[in-house]
Amino acid sequence: QTIRLEDYRPSDHLIDRVDLDIRLAPHDTRVSATLAVRPNPAGVPGAPLVLDGDELTLLGLALDGQALPADAFAASPGGLTLHAPPQRPFTLTVETQIDPTANTKLMGLYRSGGVYCTQCEADGFRRITYFLDRPDVLSVYTTRIEADREEAPVLLGNGDPGEAGAVPGTGRHFAVWHDPHPKPAYLFALVGGRLDRVSAPFTTMEGRAVTVAVYVEPGKGPRADYALDAVLRSMRWDEAAFGRPYDLAVFNVVAVSDFNMGAMENKGLNIFNDKYVLADPETATDTDYANIEAVIAHEYFHNWSGNRVTCRDWFQLCLKEGLTVFRDQEFSSDMRSRAVHRIGEVRTLRARQFPEDAGPLAHPVRPRAYAEINNFYTATVYEKGAEIVRMIRTLLGPAAFRAGMDRYFSENDGRAATVEDFLSAFAAESGRDLSAFARWYERPGTPRVSAAGSHDAQTGRYTLSLRQSLPGGDGAPLVIPVALGLVGAAGPLEATCERVRDGVFVLEAASDTITFAGVAEPPVPSLFRGFSAPVRLEMDLGDAERLTLLRHDTDPFNRWQAAQSVAMRLILDRATARAQEAEGAEGAEGAEEAGPAAAAYAAALGAFLDAEALADPAFAALVLGLPGEGDVANEMGRDVDPDAIHRARQALRRHLGRSLRGRLDPLRAALAPAAGAPFSPDAASAGRRALANAALDLLGIADPEAGTQAAEAQLAAATNMTDRLAALSVLAQIPGPARERALEAFGERYADEPLVLDKWFALQATIPEAGTLERIARLRRHPAFAMTNPNRVRALIGSFGLGNPTQFARADGAGFALLAETVEALDRVNPQIAAKLLTTFGSWRMLEPARSSRAGEILSRMQARPGLSRDVTDILARTLAGS
Ligand code: ARG
Ligand code: ZN
Repeated sequence: QTIRLEDYRPSDHLIDRVDLDIRLAPHDTRVSATLAVRPNPAGVPGAPLVLDGDELTLLGLALDGQALPADAFAASPGGLTLHAPPQRPFTLTVETQIDPTANTKLMGLYRSGGVYCTQCEADGFRRITYFLDRPDVLSVYTTRIEADREEAPVLLGNGDPGEAGAVPGTGRHFAVWHDPHPKPAYLFALVGGRLDRVSAPFTTMEGRAVTVAVYVEPGKGPRADYALDAVLRSMRWDEAAFGRPYDLAVFNVVAVSDFNMGAMENKGLNIFNDKYVLADPETATDTDYANIEAVIAHEYFHNWSGNRVTCRDWFQLCLKEGLTVFRDQEFSSDMRSRAVHRIGEVRTLRARQFPEDAGPLAHPVRPRAYAEINNFYTATVYEKGAEIVRMIRTLLGPAAFRAGMDRYFSENDGRAATVEDFLSAFAAESGRDLSAFARWYERPGTPRVSAAGSHDAQTGRYTLSLRQSLPGGDGAPLVIPVALGLVGAAGPLEATCERVRDGVFVLEAASDTITFAGVAEPPVPSLFRGFSAPVRLEMDLGDAERLTLLRHDTDPFNRWQAAQSVAMRLILDRATARAQEAEGAEGAEGAEEAGPAAAAYAAALGAFLDAEALADPAFAALVLGLPGEGDVANEMGRDVDPDAIHRARQALRRHLGRSLRGRLDPLRAALAPAAGAPFSPDAASAGRRALANAALDLLGIADPEAGTQAAEAQLAAATNMTDRLAALSVLAQIPGPARERALEAFGERYADEPLVLDKWFALQATIPEAGTLERIARLRRHPAFAMTNPNRVRALIGSFGLGNPTQFARADGAGFALLAETVEALDRVNPQIAAKLLTTFGSWRMLEPARSSRAGEILSRMQARPGLSRDVTDILARTLAGS
């Protein structure tokens, strides 16, 4: 059934304290929960007490210590109701039995590689005990955990550690944890298992001593050092940037190998997918290091944006997630290159959020209704949610933004808040009315802003007209911050416009026109600098003007954007021309002659490399990269033929590679580390590797023979996973025995490294060739593949759906069928991951008619199957809605 925002009402009961006694055993775990319940003054007096449950077995129930008569309550695996609870505070003791080993949904208490762990967000706590499992019920938890000492020598809970010891004569031991901060049930966690520990002391700005520890699989301690350091840096940064200190004596991070998402911010006990903890040069790429830093920071920052201030209901999810993504983005930008990081953020937004917002799964950043909340942990809530926070900062300026954040934290500390509470803190500090801005939370779809300019040489005036529109709607306009400037043939122009403050014009009307004075030459406008709003910009600029921006703009984001836009137009032109051609005209390399526009593009990139490559290699690597095939499809919006896009993009890459051919080897040589230099994951070193590997990639497409040789040599000599995987990726694009040899050797070398095998699975799943389907069928039978491990499923099947458009959307439907079969099989094991995998169909309506009707048939067939989970049913219904 559907849950709606407008139906929110406070709970009829509150639970002030929770005392848990959890006796862990592989199949028969016993949970005794003692709840201090009282009627909520804001609720309905005399209402029944309705506790949530999910697959629970009730063993005992007592009220104030007295067993309850059978007619006083109703219990099922899915809930427990007390028909007439006392209208005063009382104690309810509930005994439940659960089987953590059988819990393949990975929600609630489960075992991963023999380690007991929990995942309670959004609604997993009800799989542990009956409870008011909603985020506006906040309780103080005390947890006693008991387990076999051999099986689980480490026992961790939320908060600070208390009493611990042996249970005499049993081989078992226990530990008590107390968390003084009231929290909703979704932040509960425990861990029990055999784990190694690395730790470090930290002193907060308030002088509080904290022990920070990271727990990992035995023997993997050294791979946790980078994550540990990232925690310490996050703690320091949140103090400096937001004035937020840590608030317990311990902060623990635990890595487990089976995990539905990236990680979870449980109070004092963050639990992580080990992919976002474990790193060493041998197994982790530079991207892995950056992701670990970002996810560690994200979960740590939730301690304030999420835990101290939590959400009133799940419709407010962006209140903690969008804000915390914004905070982790800022952290990473301070740790690394801000410009490079910003480009990465936008690439992710465009690749994941824009298609979501353009397809049947589109929803507002604050959804108004849901059937299954776990399906709303989306790019829209997270990434677009972060862009909204960023726009607030742009509109208010850094000082008022910081003051608003301080006010938000202090006014809502210990509370379950709403988006309105968030906005009102900024309104109060800035004196601004943010009610029109608030529309960003309510409107699905990516707004379009079209721009047109005209220059009057006589008066030295430049007039810029901007018009906004939302897909499928009129409605009141959005408040759109447009960071902008003007650029001339030889560099930035100093033009004035009184409606532009601190480089930002705020577009509040459906359309508006601004005029700059003192513009001596026809300028090129640089709009949405730093991607100041999550919109699509439509402006008729010529390639020459865009290449002027690449050369002379002061804004690095728009320099990169300029190169992307030129490449996008070149690919689109070619892809649509091809799509219109009669089939058969595709003479492999025959029709590869590049026009003057492609030549000018390549020449501009060549000049750019000569001037700047070695000064900022990370940025240069991004400028060299073409828009992804998905970006191109999304730009087309309809009648998408992935094969035409692939061919067009490959043709441009090949042209670029051939044009730059003479520069590639010298560039790689100039970027190579000194012999024997130790590996460092820092951003500057990673940037050099990124550019060198971008050059290798171009070499591979421009000159496959030389590329093969160079990649084989790099594979043999590499001292780190970044360079090894980059070489393997180049080989993977070149059919032939060298590729198969390299793949086989890599698979054998890392047979015992699950996280590396995931890269190996993913790489093979994304080979854009017809044979990939057969390859995937083979890999599914690989001993390391398991439906019970989300990382493995995402690596092999998720990567195929998201990263192999020509094969996923094959005209014969075989790619869709592969995805659908996997979703159906996985749904019986882990519905949440099955539903996520199914969202790869989200853009099916954009495809050309033959392909989209294949997809539609396969989805409809799935919908007819009995016994699908609520998670999959919900995604299916929304994906198919309207057909
Ligand atoms: N709050 C977690 C994070 O963003 C994500 C947990 C989502 N879990 C889920 N079952 N949907 O860091
Ligand atoms: Zn989060």
